[in-house]
Amino acid sequence: MNFFLLKEYLRYFHLKTDEHSLHSPFFYNFYLNIVKNKSISKEWTSIENNRKDLLRDDTEFKIVDLGAGSKVDKSQFRKVKSIAKNSLSSPKFSQFLFHLIDDNKFEKILELGTSLGTNTSYLAKANPSANIFTFEADPNALKIAKEVNAKHKNILYHEGDIANLLPKMLQNSNSKIDLVYADANHTYEASIDYFNIILPYLATESIYIMDDIHWSAGMKKAWEDLKLRKEVSSSIDLFDAGLLFFNPDFEKQHYVLDF
Ligand SMILES: C[S@@+](CC[C@H](N)C(=O)[O-])C[C@H]1O[C@@H](n2cnc3c(N)ncnc32)[C@H](O)[C@@H]1O
Repeated sequence: MNFFLLKEYLRYFHLKTDEHSLHSPFFYNFYLNIVKNKSISKEWTSIENNRKDLLRDDTEFKIVDLGAGSKVDKSQFRKVKSIAKNSLSSPKFSQFLFHLIDDNKFEKILELGTSLGTNTSYLAKANPSANIFTFEADPNALKIAKEVNAKHKNILYHEGDIANLLPKMLQNSNSKIDLVYADANHTYEASIDYFNIILPYLATESIYIMDDIHWSAGMKKAWEDLKLRKEVSSSIDLFDAGLLFFNPDFEKQHYVLDF
């Protein structure tokens, strides 16, 4: 854990609360039924077996990095097992996303940063009738993601720089987005740009998830700035990621919750 992240974690640890601080019925239920949902799905076994295979995979390739890079592995060439160890969302977080989609039956989902496709598997399995639009610049990572998810026909891959691809994809889409999971370029500018580009296309009941909000000073500032936007009605900080809500009926509240 880098020093910035450690300091942020200590702060989060002191601030976090649980269901006892939630007076809104929506957020109380959201917290207990989704964030704290401990049920296990048999759908997860094959995904986690696959993650184990990736964690043993010595294949090396030259990475195409259009993001902020890794704080752990700085080399241009990276082994699949290093990417699987350092770049993917934890099983716990991906399983939270699974519950979130399953519970809300979200239909249109955007994932920024496919990487090896492990998290994409959870998104695709959570609601087989949903469309998962996923974006990745690295062709080698994307090739693995496609192999891993060959069975899932509800994933639409977009290869290249999100900055170019995302506006075009959104202009051509005819329905609102229910869920965004932004886990690509970890810089202040890109995080704000992603939000601004996507905002007009969000459904009222949608949730925008920004990953790694405590990863760096820039990511933290982006999170703090987005929370204050007038379109954002409430937010939840789970440390691993931040969730933004847009329903104007919600009383504006910012929660820091145990995950
Ligand atoms: C942290 S990883 C995503 C992990 C994935 N969400 C998971 O949990 O399985 C970030 C990915 O975003 C990709 N990325 C970063 N900046 C990008 C950009 N500007 N356009 C497209 N992909 C980008 C990187 O190549 C990397 O594979």
